Amino acid sequence: LSTLPTEKGWVASTFYKYQGFWHPCRHLQGILSCQKHFQAQDTDIILVSTPKSGTTWLKAILFALLNRTRFPISQKNHPLLSNNPHVLVPFLEIKLYLEQENPDLSSIVSPRLFSTHMPDVSLPKSVHDSQCKLVYLCRNPKDTLISLWSFTNKLRLQEMGTNSLEEASERFCGGVSMYGPFWDHVLGYWEESLKNPEKVLFLKYEEIKEQPKLCLEKLACFLGCPFSLKEEIEGVVDDILEICSFDHLSKLQVNMEGKLPSGENCNLFFRKGEVGDSKNYLSPEMEERLDKICKEKLDGSGLQF
Ligand code: A3P
Repeated sequence: LSTLPTEKGWVASTFYKYQGFWHPCRHLQGILSCQKHFQAQDTDIILVSTPKSGTTWLKAILFALLNRTRFPISQKNHPLLSNNPHVLVPFLEIKLYLEQENPDLSSIVSPRLFSTHMPDVSLPKSVHDSQCKLVYLCRNPKDTLISLWSFTNKLRLQEMGTNSLEEASERFCGGVSMYGPFWDHVLGYWEESLKNPEKVLFLKYEEIKEQPKLCLEKLACFLGCPFSLKEEIEGVVDDILEICSFDHLSKLQVNMEGKLPSGENCNLFFRKGEVGDSKNYLSPEMEERLDKICKEKLDGSGLQF
């Protein structure tokens, strides 16, 4: 582990580099416990994402999709109507293995659905050894940066004031962001998805926005629960997308006024939910720099944003 020497303020004392990626100290404890104790099962499904890529959205979609028999979408008391998606699909290292060194997961019904931001190199060994499936989600780096900047500023506002976009951009471009370097995170899973498409499904926020129906059908097939003809006719796909839409989720009382058990306001996870909002914030120089890094890092990989 090495501390970050050049940063000022709270980040300086609390960010650590572990296995090539930067983590706040507290998250690192969760990662270490998870690496030590988590035993993946063949039927597990793990949503892996870069922070602020639409994790909340995909948690809702996966929950609704996998539980559509147990909880029909039209049900008046569907769990998504009264629970934030982060409560229904817990993070491994920033919830389960952070709260307890070795939590008892035996009461979770199969298929178990978890989530993580851990990079590929840090996943517990049993995840690679088992046949569990990984759904990976990322988002174009410019919108990711703006969403992250806005989120962390809201989190730290009361304690230490806001962080300038210049500082945030500088750090992000240098790879020093939560679970960064961003490009290494994305490339790790991109390569895994090419090597092992049965195990890793690689998705981008923008493609779900553009073709939600197609993406949901792809997800269902990948997870071994394709929609039946009857479900297609009955409009189940549209119903799932509707219940999980930004407009619907962000206006639910639980998401407007509720808090997560960890204390964060649920409304922090819903800002604009748009593609390209970074245009309203980034200077031409910042955009140019991000484009250049993206080009250099992703060159030859076949991946583009
Ligand atoms: P913006 O800040 O650009 O609005 P995460 O869930 O990984 O923390 O990502 C948060 C981002 O996803 C935020 O982006 C948030 O508004 C957006 N988001 C949350 N729910 C969404 C939904 N149902 N549909 C689309 N985007 C959503």
